[in-house]
Amino acid sequence: MTTNARPRRKTPEQLRSHRWFGVHDLRAFGHRSRIRQMGYGPEDYAGKPVIAILNTWSDINQCHAHFKERVQDVKRGIFQAGGFPLELPALSLSEPFVKPTTMLYRNLLAMEAEELLRSHPIDGVVLMGGCDKTTPGLLMGAISMNLPAIFVPAGPMLRGNWRGQVLGSGSDSWKYWAELQAGNITIQDWNDIESGIARSAGMCMTMGTAATMTAVAEAMGFSLPGASSIPAPDSSHPRMCAESGRRIVEMVWEDLKPSDIMSPAAVDNAIRCHLAMGGSTNAMIHVVAIARRAGIPLTLDRFDELARQIPVLANVRPSGRYLMEDFYYAGGIRALLARLQDVLDLDCLTVNGRTLGENIAGAEVWNPEVIHGLGDPVAKEATAILYGNLAPNGAVMKPSAADPRFLKHRGPALAFESYDAMAAAIADESLDVTPDHVLVLKNAGPVAAGMPEWGMLPLPKKLLKQGVRDMLRLSDARMSGTSYGACILHVSPEAAIGGPLAFVRTGDVIAVDVAARQVNLLVPEDELARRRAAWQPKPLPPRGYGRMYAAHIQQAHEGCDFDFLLGTQPLPEPEIH
Ligand code: FES
Ligand code: MG
Repeated sequence: MTTNARPRRKTPEQLRSHRWFGVHDLRAFGHRSRIRQMGYGPEDYAGKPVIAILNTWSDINQCHAHFKERVQDVKRGIFQAGGFPLELPALSLSEPFVKPTTMLYRNLLAMEAEELLRSHPIDGVVLMGGCDKTTPGLLMGAISMNLPAIFVPAGPMLRGNWRGQVLGSGSDSWKYWAELQAGNITIQDWNDIESGIARSAGMCMTMGTAATMTAVAEAMGFSLPGASSIPAPDSSHPRMCAESGRRIVEMVWEDLKPSDIMSPAAVDNAIRCHLAMGGSTNAMIHVVAIARRAGIPLTLDRFDELARQIPVLANVRPSGRYLMEDFYYAGGIRALLARLQDVLDLDCLTVNGRTLGENIAGAEVWNPEVIHGLGDPVAKEATAILYGNLAPNGAVMKPSAADPRFLKHRGPALAFESYDAMAAAIADESLDVTPDHVLVLKNAGPVAAGMPEWGMLPLPKKLLKQGVRDMLRLSDARMSGTSYGACILHVSPEAAIGGPLAFVRTGDVIAVDVAARQVNLLVPEDELARRRAAWQPKPLPPRGYGRMYAAHIQQAHEGCDFDFLLGTQPLPEPEIH
């Protein structure tokens, strides 16, 4: 699969690492003697591309558990192609374990990735990620540094299994937790589900943020063709890792950089892929941030425009029925993109030196039940961007995962200032609530809380027992891509900076009309002005990373990047003295 589609443009003396190893001065002596200290001689590295492997493995990242072995496959490929691999561990960001939310640390990983590359003698990089925030974090850093970069996705885990029933990550946790609350399953059932829902290394195998963002990375051009669909335990996966290792060495010689791959057309292809996958709403934050790192001024409106053209084709939970393992057997992402070929820009360059069109040529769908066609979609619209006096800068919704009756709805707000207040209230079976209420959570946005995945607010226990399984919910939080329900998310500006959400009170009427793309608070403007005048912001955290985060984080519609990381101006190379 390795190609020499692009001519070699670099000589060994032009490698960035030459400045560390190839010159004759006291410092270079130090670098070479220290490489010898690790057991390597000039035959290992001299005149060869030095390839960083940014590995987001850790003992507490379940989704990347196989990366400790896979990094050996990547190194094998790099050696085979005449490169010199250096594994550099990077922030692991395990989605379930990192609190309050991995989103707080996506930008820290992006900064770490960029600075690891800048400060070391690196010519090119293999990015090993997959669990939710690792993909955007690594890509954002690599795009800003702009050295040749290839992305190796962790791949989805195997299907879950409970008594012969298929279980999906996240989605079935929420589903069976609700059934447990409603008294429909036993605690023994619940414990058995715990043992069967995560059966191998690899990412969530529903269409969560991980499966969405690895597909998006591939559609943008950053992974080898088909790589993002390979299940983590499949033997194709280590072979893809070795191939990625071989390919990055050639990319260095060809000087094929992220700036050659990123373009408005590549970003559009990625958004179309996201929509056809029925992808996570989180992608709308990450893709904006990734695009803006490349100097492409993407806004949410582009998602809405393309969503009107691109229906959901992947029949994968939570929008559909199947899981990523089935998606792989049905032909995977190449087959999905082939179904979209009439609406994609096929000329975009990808990491293998070929175009997206060349990479998907001849791909076939082996199971049309899992990968639908444009004429026979799973759902019409994956995504809607709503505006109105409650969300002047936008809010997002996934209509395909909501009970259709909430797509046009009007109901009284039940508003909470914090997650704890909400959690206490919904557990109270005497709560004054009807299925028509709109649950509202404030202070869960980027500045307030790092924007945790609290947006699929749990339903009141009283209503669960009555058989209610969906309600309209509204917040400045995000929600997991494995979640479902009528949830309006990412309300911008957020409550903590005085966005209109801050002024919602219990009993106010909220009106939503997804077809008209509207979300409004039906309270007179003079009353809102009174509430606004009485509002006080909370103080910033006193010190540390949280302080820097709250002071510099941008709002959801802007991609939640730090204001000081914007721009494409290259930073100076480090001085080597
Ligand atoms: Fe890692 Fe879902 S928890 S991908
Ligand atoms: Mg997730």
